[in-house]
Amino acid sequence: MSLFGLMYISRTVNTLTPTQLQSLVARAQHKNQALNITGMLLTSDGYFFQLLEGEEAAVTRLYQTIVQDPRHTDLTLLFNEPMDKRFCPTWNMLLLMNTQISPQQTQDKITSLLAMAKKKYLQKEQLISDLFCRFMTLRQLDVFNQTENRQ
Ligand SMILES: Cc1cc2nc3c(=O)[nH]c(=O)nc-3n(C[C@H](O)[C@H](O)[C@H](O)COP(=O)(O)O)c2cc1C
Repeated sequence: MSLFGLMYISRTVNTLTPTQLQSLVARAQHKNQALNITGMLLTSDGYFFQLLEGEEAAVTRLYQTIVQDPRHTDLTLLFNEPMDKRFCPTWNMLLLMNTQISPQQTQDKITSLLAMAKKKYLQKEQLISDLFCRFMTLRQLDVFNQTENRQ
């Protein structure tokens, strides 16, 4: 199996309520578990950032579905590359929202992801940095990670 990582940024079409987001993610977690896909979804200030990791064909197919989702627009692919190992092996889709304090572990993962994205796509550096800085300096992340979806 070839492990692939895919990251993108998009803009929300209408601001989703936390409840709507949580139901989107609960459904995604269920489907991702079946597809052996892990990753995280960050949202703040009208943006989504998502990491999908898993078998190449499964990730590509899921991304094709996500691209067509009317709940977001202006998708910018940041990273679509083979990976040696998963960044989020235990998260079928971790949702981060800017409403609470972030655990250090989550910030460490974001920092690693940022470093990876910067290395591959320098032209996106400023956009990615700006987005992540907002998440990290606000220190207001809410982790929605259903324990039953942990592997
Ligand atoms: C920002 C965003 C991220 C999403 N992430 C996932 C995901 O990781 N996995 C997933 O199955 N669906 C995800 N979706 C939903 C898909 O676009 C699509 O609605 C869903 O896969 C359809 O599943 P269903 O027809 O079985 O309900 C996401 C949607 C949005 C807007």
